[in-house]
Amino acid sequence: MIVTFTINGRSCQIDVPGDHRLLDVLRVNLGLTGTKEGCGEGECGACSVLLDGQVVNACLIPVAQVDGAQIVTVEGLEAAGGGPLQEAFVALGAAQCGSCTPGMLMSAYGHFLESLRNGDDPQDREGIRHALAGNLCRCTGYQKIIDAVSKGYEELARMPSLPPAAPAPQTGHNDPSHGGGPGHGSLTG
Ligand code: FES
Ligand code: FES
Repeated sequence: MIVTFTINGRSCQIDVPGDHRLLDVLRVNLGLTGTKEGCGEGECGACSVLLDGQVVNACLIPVAQVDGAQIVTVEGLEAAGGGPLQEAFVALGAAQCGSCTPGMLMSAYGHFLESLRNGDDPQDREGIRHALAGNLCRCTGYQKIIDAVSKGYEELARMPSLPPAAPAPQTGHNDPSHGGGPGHGSLTG
């Protein structure tokens, strides 16, 4: 099937079976390998991306479901306003093993955007822990990661203009139909 969506601010049209995982379409068809695969079962958070402003596990999303949606991956995080989080991860040594970091960043930025939308304080430590609960770290622990998220939020709050909150979830792009030949994608814009 033909699936059309926006990826990191660029429009994309791809001809691929609708049941292919978004994770594979990102990594294989579009070459966006910053999104990692850990468990492949929705348990580790390594594949976290923003789908219409919400954090999702790309390993669980059939690509048919993203028709008409807006997706941000770690490659588009800086342009989407999340650069201060990346800088804080580097500054505080929170990019620990590397393969979990993209998912951590996307979950952290998704939590920040959601806090803005809901009028909540993104700095609430329990809120940060809860937001990262689905992103597993089995190496040196979460302390540096949570400190870096908090520092990144501080920097984001100091910016002259806060990033526009990502779009609210949309409906009407959930087409489970399958089909199509070998996948290939094109990015425009
Ligand atoms: S690879 Fe998707 S949650 Fe683990
Ligand atoms: S940051 Fe990847 S296992 Fe800890």
